Amino acid sequence: MKRTLITSALPYANGPVHIGHLAGVYVPADIYARYLRLKGEEVLFVGGSDEHGVPVTIRARKEGCTPQDVVDRYHGIIKKSFEDFGISFDVYSRTTSKTHHQFASDFFKKLYEDGKFVEIESEQYYDEQAGEFLTDRNIRGECPRCHAPEAYGDQCEKCGSTLSPDELINPYNAVTGNPLVKRQTKHWYLPLDQYQPWLEKWILEGHKEWRPNVYGQCKSWLDGGLHPRAVTRDLSWGIPVPVEGAEGKVLYVWFDAPIGYISNTKELCDAQPEKWGTWQKWWQDEDTRMIHFIGKDNIVFHCIVFPSMLKAHGDYILPDNVPSNEFLNLEGDKISTSRNYAVWLNEYLEEIPGKQDVLRYVLTANAPETKDNDFTWKDYQARNNNELVAVYGNFVNRALQLTKKYYDSIVPQQGELTAHDQETINEFKDVKQKVEALLDQFKFRDAQKEAMNLARIGNKYIADEEPWKVIKTDPERVKTIIYISLQLTANLAIAFEPFLPFSSQKLRTMLNMDTFRWEDLGKMDILPAGKQLGEPQLLFDKIEDDVIQAQIDKLAATVKANQAAAAKAEPIKPTIAFDDFEKLDIRAGKVLECERVPKMKKLLRFLIDDGLQQRTIVSGIAQWYEPEQLIGKEVLFIANLAPREFKNGLVSEGMILSAQDWDGTISVTTLEHDVKPGSQIS
Ligand code: MF3
Ligand code: ZN
Repeated sequence: MKRTLITSALPYANGPVHIGHLAGVYVPADIYARYLRLKGEEVLFVGGSDEHGVPVTIRARKEGCTPQDVVDRYHGIIKKSFEDFGISFDVYSRTTSKTHHQFASDFFKKLYEDGKFVEIESEQYYDEQAGEFLTDRNIRGECPRCHAPEAYGDQCEKCGSTLSPDELINPYNAVTGNPLVKRQTKHWYLPLDQYQPWLEKWILEGHKEWRPNVYGQCKSWLDGGLHPRAVTRDLSWGIPVPVEGAEGKVLYVWFDAPIGYISNTKELCDAQPEKWGTWQKWWQDEDTRMIHFIGKDNIVFHCIVFPSMLKAHGDYILPDNVPSNEFLNLEGDKISTSRNYAVWLNEYLEEIPGKQDVLRYVLTANAPETKDNDFTWKDYQARNNNELVAVYGNFVNRALQLTKKYYDSIVPQQGELTAHDQETINEFKDVKQKVEALLDQFKFRDAQKEAMNLARIGNKYIADEEPWKVIKTDPERVKTIIYISLQLTANLAIAFEPFLPFSSQKLRTMLNMDTFRWEDLGKMDILPAGKQLGEPQLLFDKIEDDVIQAQIDKLAATVKANQAAAAKAEPIKPTIAFDDFEKLDIRAGKVLECERVPKMKKLLRFLIDDGLQQRTIVSGIAQWYEPEQLIGKEVLFIANLAPREFKNGLVSEGMILSAQDWDGTISVTTLEHDVKPGSQIS
């Protein structure tokens, strides 16, 4: 039997973790780890925080603190959330640890010295004033397609085009606002193209059993042809590139983070060598099978880039499987950390305390294993009330309460079995095999469904047998019914342990179970006659509408707040004196001419009849109007604004008033009733 190394993607420590993380990666990984441990297999489950990368520095800038402050804070929050949800990591460390820095640095050095990288010089955008190179996301400028003024270096959010920084018109530093220049810089690249034939063989021929979504994504990357990938960056936050002359450069976060799996393993093994052995045993021994649990945006890194790094290094084993999930949506919308649209695990536990298993259950029941899936609060409530409470909880509660009532919580003797008893027992044993087969194939959603079927079988059995009625006519028979019900209950505690560990622990206490092994599943003598059981308690309780409504309202409030923020609904400016207002000369004017300005794609040039004369006004609204639409319109303009000269020499003598909607749409303010040009507005 091989030992199993389970890794789960290291979450970025730039924010707390939410239900999407849990559903996509950590619950399935934890189910798998718990399942193998229950079977008595040798397992190491590794996790940790991914603490480098640009998102961390962005957050730090936003919050006015250091990147280290950011990761210290979120590493603590994330680690606690995982503990609270029973994610049973054997080690949860971080990529800012000394061990990791040293390990990742050495890893790079070995590849460097073995000549596994190619060095490429290229021109990148540089902010001379700030003295830094910029990442695509930190470059903004005018969109070459729709001319929105603030497109990102990788994408325009207005028109949705995918961009490269080179395409932006007048690029500037998103943080400092400084204009950018091109500068030569040297980086190290992993020549993935050289690994292509090997990868094709290893994945496309050797791993046809991988999930179709994973296999398919690998195939399309490979079909598209691989190119060298830079593994270093011009940044200050990260692991310094351990090569002379590489000052100001760090390892790319996607180079160092997966190495975190190895360094975290090392940290654990170094701390407890008697228990865990050496880290090499887990990473360099063919008797270890490695499974990566990740979300779909991580597939290329875990199936193509990281394996190529391991291959380039030599000595390492490769993943056996990469059961990646698709995405979980929330009430029909994309979960978003930056928009704060999520159910955060730390908040969930504060607001609905003690219900970690309920969330685990619902997230597995809706796991996005083969396609994106949606989490809704109504579904959460229904699954709790109709499944956990009404089926599993109800059965267990009946069995235990009746044992207490009739036998003072002592397991009764089993008598002769009826055909129905036997049928129930057989049915139960079959399901056990199904659960196993499904777990072995990483089909957690179906496996949990089958586990719930075990509870259904029990619930149906006790409802059919009606021991509360039979007790009046045939008390001997009730002993057998209760005996069987109790064995089923003990089985459920085992079967649900990987999925609902808190409930299983509770049940285990109620049943006074000492041993707890997967191999007992299906057995009908787990609790021997005469055994004293503990005090029965409710396993689950009903969730009322008000709890659910509060969560739905909370999400709605977030959506509203986002819309307001998008409206740039800045606070009303400070009060001004009436005199100040009177300084503004706002007038009505008639648009005589309106046309686009050559080479200035944002601008429209207006010729306005202001009542006294004609004046030129230039306005940055070309995206929103065809010039002809505005000719003849009566508009409002500020008549005494100091003239402004544009780059091409054009002078604007005033400003046309317009409104900007929350989604950025601009509408010129026009007058419904004709007034004489030059009329004053007050
Ligand atoms: N931090 C990455 C993310 O959240 C995942 C890193 S996984 C690792 O998408 F392999 F790099 F560790
Ligand atoms: Zn655009």
